[in-house]
Amino acid sequence: MIHDIEVLKAKTSKISEIDFNNLKFGHVFSDHMLECDFKNGEWEAPKVVPYQPITLDPSAKIFHYGQSVFEGMKAYKDADGKVWLFRPLDNFKRLNISSKRLAIPELPENYFMDGLKALLKVDEDWIPEKEGSSLYIRPFVFASGNGFHASPADEYKFIICTAPSGAYFSGEVKVLIEEKYSRSANGGVGFAKAGGNYAGQFYPTQLAVEKGYQQVIWTDDTSHEYIEEAGAMNIFVRIDDTLVTAPTSDRILDGITRKSIIELAKSENIPVEVRKLSVKEVVEAAQNGSLKEMFGAGTAAVISPISGFGYKDNDYELPKLTDDSYASFLKKRITDIQTNKVEDPFGWRME
Ligand code: COI
Repeated sequence: MIHDIEVLKAKTSKISEIDFNNLKFGHVFSDHMLECDFKNGEWEAPKVVPYQPITLDPSAKIFHYGQSVFEGMKAYKDADGKVWLFRPLDNFKRLNISSKRLAIPELPENYFMDGLKALLKVDEDWIPEKEGSSLYIRPFVFASGNGFHASPADEYKFIICTAPSGAYFSGEVKVLIEEKYSRSANGGVGFAKAGGNYAGQFYPTQLAVEKGYQQVIWTDDTSHEYIEEAGAMNIFVRIDDTLVTAPTSDRILDGITRKSIIELAKSENIPVEVRKLSVKEVVEAAQNGSLKEMFGAGTAAVISPISGFGYKDNDYELPKLTDDSYASFLKKRITDIQTNKVEDPFGWRME
């Protein structure tokens, strides 16, 4: 435990300007942030400071070589106003897994956990109470050290900032199965939450948006025959009564929502298969009527049902979502656990 995290309070609060009934995703930011520097070979003590711009040298390596990693997590308020986190240690561990792959120095657990708790204490009023809203938390680490030499920086910044947020998607999600571009490759950084993994998706996603889709379904980089992820989310497909998702690998993010859904489904006796899933199988299932559901899963998106998909100039529609669909059922189960509406038999919720 770090006993004394220094807190520098903002002189004024922006909270009265925020319409908590109409929150978009990640659009407005709470009054404070956690800041921590890596200098002279060690992480300095984290501090809570006002949310503010940061000054960097134009030669900071983040700008040139994209040495940066991040996490996505959420804080919730229950009906009594008590604050809860969901599997925060998993985010901490994954941040360090990502950092290691990007040659960024790993963080001590107490800097992350105690820093996060100190920040949430100061900005507790920013955690929305409205159902479907939460405080989205964005921890990130990047190369703040200077130089054009293409090698790891000698200085880094770890920041956590937060944004009271509503739903990630505002309407239906139609996806295009990608046949040309790839998100990641074996031996690459696909499993890490590296900023560049997301930047690399923007152009293929723009092309899909021009064709009337919202997201790209990523396929494997060699054959493009196997389904891997959905935009910035993991993907689940329901064929008859079985839920199928791709195994994690060098190329696929080990999503915390993904693994929670697998455990939740198993505990509810929903058949789950973690295996390779071919595009051919999904197209055939759409054609013969056994494809019941597709949904993306992630911290920001929670569970986002997919209404249809495009592949090789054909469009396939998914059946309309019903109250007994797996997506609705599992979304309710996971959000009820996150917001302390029900018992948490898994021990995922943390004060
Ligand atoms: C999350 O789901 O939290 C993510 O990190 C995805 C992000 C690109 C919104």
